[in-house]
Amino acid sequence: MASLSPPLDLSHHFSYTTKQRAPSAVKGFYKYFQIPGIANLAGGLPNASYFPYDTLEASAAHSQRFPTVPGGRKTKEPHPSDRLTIPKESPSATPKKIDITTALQYGTVEGIPPLATFVNQFVREHLHPNVPYADGPATILSAGSTDGFAKAIETFTNTWNPDRDWAHLRQGVLCEEFVYMNAIQTIQPRGLNVAPVAIDAEGMLPYGPGGLLDVLQNWDYRKGRRPHLMYTITIGQNPTGGTLSVERRKEIYAICQKFDVIIVEDDPYWNLQYPSAPEMQAQYRNTVIDKNSLSKRNYNAGGKSSGYEFLDSLVPSYLSIDTDGRVVRLDTFSKTIAPGCRLGWITAQPAVIERISRIIETSTQQPSGFVQAMVADLILGQQVDDGSVSSRSKEKTPKEGWQMDGWVRWLEGLRAGYEHRMQQMCIRLEEGQYTTVDAGKHTGESSLTDDEEDSWEVLDKVQMYDFSWPTGGMFIWLKVRYDTHPLRQKYAPERLAKAMWVHFTHKPYLCLLGPGTMFSPTEETQRRGWQYLRLCFAAMPEDDVVPVSERLVEGFRAFWQRKDLDGLEDEDGLTQAMDRLQIRPAANFLGIGC
Ligand SMILES: Cc1ncc(COP(=O)(O)O)c(C=O)c1O
Repeated sequence: MASLSPPLDLSHHFSYTTKQRAPSAVKGFYKYFQIPGIANLAGGLPNASYFPYDTLEASAAHSQRFPTVPGGRKTKEPHPSDRLTIPKESPSATPKKIDITTALQYGTVEGIPPLATFVNQFVREHLHPNVPYADGPATILSAGSTDGFAKAIETFTNTWNPDRDWAHLRQGVLCEEFVYMNAIQTIQPRGLNVAPVAIDAEGMLPYGPGGLLDVLQNWDYRKGRRPHLMYTITIGQNPTGGTLSVERRKEIYAICQKFDVIIVEDDPYWNLQYPSAPEMQAQYRNTVIDKNSLSKRNYNAGGKSSGYEFLDSLVPSYLSIDTDGRVVRLDTFSKTIAPGCRLGWITAQPAVIERISRIIETSTQQPSGFVQAMVADLILGQQVDDGSVSSRSKEKTPKEGWQMDGWVRWLEGLRAGYEHRMQQMCIRLEEGQYTTVDAGKHTGESSLTDDEEDSWEVLDKVQMYDFSWPTGGMFIWLKVRYDTHPLRQKYAPERLAKAMWVHFTHKPYLCLLGPGTMFSPTEETQRRGWQYLRLCFAAMPEDDVVPVSERLVEGFRAFWQRKDLDGLEDEDGLTQAMDRLQIRPAANFLGIGC
């Protein structure tokens, strides 16, 4: 990597407050605490002997708990679970020790050393082994992707107040036209323009009407500045389930270079990539696989290997083509360990991470010590020396945590589990997408009238919804074909969409669906969002996926058989129906929380 150029200086993009931030005076002192034998009269630390926890203990899964093949047999774990015990004080002299005294004490923004080091090593050597700028990226722990995004927005954008600021100062953020709204709700109250970019089943479109180039080239400056920041979910996009190919990434990256746009890549589903989706879709539909679609290959073949076949087979991050250092990537343990951890990390060029660290110093300081200790111990086990994370499982005993091999194995097991659910639901949806509807009475060629005997009912085969098999993540994005509904002449499609949503909440269907309007970031996309539904196949118990998918298809069929909307036809009827709802027993396709 000696010949690589350093990342570009992005300081012209830093917000006003980001530029003003100075290192925390207090935190700067922490390095001196490590001087052996020093009497620390400077720090305002509580005394660790008064922490009420003597140990932190847990039973936890083996890294091989889940099979690596979708629908594969569960491996028999040698013991039902491993036991973690975090002592009050580790006898180890290594700064990477995991104990209560350290983890629950005040610390620096970097977080506890074993976890910070593990994340950095995982990122630089295994997840993104080929970042094309000199010395590669830096990492910093966050409290999850939501926190990471809030910090990225704080780093790169100024709030805009219409009562105070000129329109030309208003900054903007590009995003997919249907998007994870929590992120947009971080941007909106800051007064920023939200600039949606057209998407297809893969993700953001570089070219064509509404594509990235179109949006940037034809920017209407009366709205404010041309956006200098992009928020994008590139794998298992929420809500569409698309995965952006490397080829598409290169096109988008080139446009971002031309218009000097920073890319904030939010990638909570990176390990949940489903190469079987395009194959199975093509098989079911008797079509050929799109050559650009996710295909099985070694993405690191031209560079350094990740050291793991599984990681090499995954579509890599924007970081892998980030020659300029304009990518800020958000990662989270929410989908790989648990959302309640509130733990993740940010990866970017060192100068950006340095600025973000200054924000962390005066806000979250570092993620919760309980969580850091628990996650560190699960993966690393108790640290006995100062060596780096061992990658080969034979070098450890079961008490030593998963190690890098186990962590990667765990991620692969999760992929297989979610991929299986995806396949199960997509097969049912695929098989159930057509229904027959009564197209009315037709008469034969004779001149007899409708009432006469040789008239017959004509049944039309119609498609109720359309979808692409998701190539990653936790969601299926359905486009509902209200244009084929027998009541389409009588009711506007938006009305049918609302009525159908309520229809599904009734017995026997009892399905709570994510309406597309929930993922529509602007008024314009809201006006199109009603056509879509997001289905989360991740949250329900595995054994429910097939019966619930069948219930869903039945619900569609029943809705297409309706001769009227039975009280669902107007706002009042809808409101009453919604008041009567019993959400609790419903199959929850929303995957609430995301
Ligand atoms: C795209 C996306 N970003 C962020 C999050 C939230 O992540 P975290 O729990 O790390 O804040 C979700 C949750 O579903 C998500 O889908």
